[in-house]
Amino acid sequence: MKFMYDDVEVSIARLLEQMTLEEKIGQLMQLSPSLFGAFGLTKDEIIAQMVNGELSYEEFSQIGRDYHEDKIRAGLIGSMGGVTGAAKVNELQRIAVEESRLGIPILFGLDVIHGYRTIFPIPLAEACSWEPELARETAKIAAKEAAAAGLHWTFAPMVDIARDPRWGRISEGAGEDPYLGSLMAAARVKGFQGEDLSNPSALLACAKHLVAYGGAVGGRDYNTVDMSLQMLHDVYLPPFKAAAEAGVGTFMSAFNDLNGIPCTANRYLLSEVLRKQYGFQGFVVSDANSVAEVMVHGYAETRKEASKKALMAGVDMDMSHGTYEEDLPQLLAEEQLSHADLNEAVRRVLRMKFALGLFENPYRTTPEQEQRLLLAPEHLTLAREAAQRSIVLLKNENEALPLSRGNKKIALIGPLADNADEMLGAWAISGNPNNVVTIREGIAAAAGGDTQVVYAKGCEIDDNKSDFTEALEAARGSDVVIAVVGESSNMSGEAASRLNLGLPGRQEELLKALHAAGKPLIVVLVNGRPLSIPWAAEHADAIVEAWQLGTLSGHALADVLFGDYNPSGKLVATFPHSAGQVPVYYNHPNTGRPTGEFKFTMKYLDGSTEPLYPFGYGLSYTTFAYERLTLSQSEVTADGRIIAEVDITNTGNRFGEEVVQLYVSDVVASRVRPIKELKGFAKVALQPGECKRVAIELEVASLGFHNEFLEYVVEPGRFMVYVGPNSKDGIESEFVLIS
Ligand code: BGC
Repeated sequence: MKFMYDDVEVSIARLLEQMTLEEKIGQLMQLSPSLFGAFGLTKDEIIAQMVNGELSYEEFSQIGRDYHEDKIRAGLIGSMGGVTGAAKVNELQRIAVEESRLGIPILFGLDVIHGYRTIFPIPLAEACSWEPELARETAKIAAKEAAAAGLHWTFAPMVDIARDPRWGRISEGAGEDPYLGSLMAAARVKGFQGEDLSNPSALLACAKHLVAYGGAVGGRDYNTVDMSLQMLHDVYLPPFKAAAEAGVGTFMSAFNDLNGIPCTANRYLLSEVLRKQYGFQGFVVSDANSVAEVMVHGYAETRKEASKKALMAGVDMDMSHGTYEEDLPQLLAEEQLSHADLNEAVRRVLRMKFALGLFENPYRTTPEQEQRLLLAPEHLTLAREAAQRSIVLLKNENEALPLSRGNKKIALIGPLADNADEMLGAWAISGNPNNVVTIREGIAAAAGGDTQVVYAKGCEIDDNKSDFTEALEAARGSDVVIAVVGESSNMSGEAASRLNLGLPGRQEELLKALHAAGKPLIVVLVNGRPLSIPWAAEHADAIVEAWQLGTLSGHALADVLFGDYNPSGKLVATFPHSAGQVPVYYNHPNTGRPTGEFKFTMKYLDGSTEPLYPFGYGLSYTTFAYERLTLSQSEVTADGRIIAEVDITNTGNRFGEEVVQLYVSDVVASRVRPIKELKGFAKVALQPGECKRVAIELEVASLGFHNEFLEYVVEPGRFMVYVGPNSKDGIESEFVLIS
């Protein structure tokens, strides 16, 4: 997508000539009702009033709006975050357009991460579908609903690579792999933005958080990141590059520092990589308060210096804290910043407003439109389908699943079995738990009249004093036990790092007690990150990874449990045996002493180096055989391509879908290379007994890496190709890349 139109540039130039300094700086401001302290109340007072019920969210938002109305009238606000609802947005927009001097429309933004009112599975879950097209569709519907509710801009997709499940924000992205992550990033950008941003149901997207935010040391959110530039370009940057290539209109700079320079003041990242190398033409917004935090990092003496460094590095808009508003006038007066720098940032913001068509059509929706579109039946149909496709079957012994409809009594146990709120996952601010189909409701609807579903909570998600009596009674009197355990929504997402990756509280004890009841035990996991669940992996009869599936959680899960949908999801992030192993990810480099029997090899004294469930792993109710892998050539040049073909046979007795994965390893290179890297995949649907020859194309140019001089090179030599059902298993072949 190209944003530079000559007539638009002329209009922007004309506007810039008329704008005062304050009006220009105003365009670089994003304010939100979550601007604690800005309403004459402290953050603690606001929270206390909200907790006491003295201040509702609506009132809270109203305070924010009142506070800002005068500023809008004065033309001093470029963007608002967190204001929603067609009527409210249109009213504020009316003030901007009709009552401000130049009538420049406001850009309204929100975190629309996995749905607006119809909530889709968390992005980590949805990526387990390995269907970028699905991600594109859900983003499109999210955009449609959000745009109907008055929004123009979403702070999504989050495209951060996450290799450390302690980091709670792993839930917001597409997992650990740069290839799959790039496809998902591009798909989500295209879904949100559509073909043409001026279409009133499109949202401007924001690829975040630039960059390596997921590489936080120790998995602690906001923590420092120190990594080679080669690693940065080979692993962490590709999804951002893919987003830029897909035409994303904005990027968000990350909270963390990268190799000692805060990302929000990082000229190399924001100017050199983003603008020069990727040719990005949109604008960059800071993360919430991250401009001011450049000072807290110790990279600027004062807030003013932080503002200068951020703007000079390439952060065009300041999210939430008024730092630019306060500091830029002085910086300009002291000639520490030039008017040309200021104009450039304003120009970039205005370009996006033109691209969205806001100057011609500042009111893109109506309350009626909003009413009509939120939770539209076709959105809910897609939510159910996306949720089915996100589920990963981790274990299924003795065909414990699917459940027979002949069961007389199902014991449904667990703190997440009858819970609406926790199905939505982190960052579902505009979702409404009242619209959620809980797991209990979904199972009851699917089980049929002859089956009795006996529910007992068993324990809380995180407490130490639960009484299991009722749950055990239910288990003993049942034919099968379904235990729904995991994490609450606020245990993942922002500021939600965990030290331990097991089930919180007494949930594992509950599972052990249920197991002792002697009935088949089906464990359903509801969570926002890979968990370490070695006990369940050994003892449960079946394990279903259900993540946080959104509005239609209960129906989608029941579809899988009863076999009305045969699960086809595959993990996009490695499950460790224990937190002590992390980060553990499949595409690690080889060592001089790979894990082996001998003592002096890479290993732990007290546990495995192998994952509990590897990247790419996931079972089906049927089985698939992989045979006859062939490559179209045994020799190829760097500008060529290879077609890998393989026979996939459905060897079971149900229809099923399989994600056929192709990994490559560069055997010898000028830098140590990962033992395997995903380079292609295909999802194939097969009837029982059916065999299809599946072709996966490999662009040889994609096999390169950044060498010691930071040049992207594709080096000649031998390459191994592995095709299989996950990153561990499969059949292999090889080819030689010739110069
Ligand atoms: C998060 C961003 C988010 C922003 C606005 C920040 O705390 O890091 O991902 O977009 O808040 O809500």
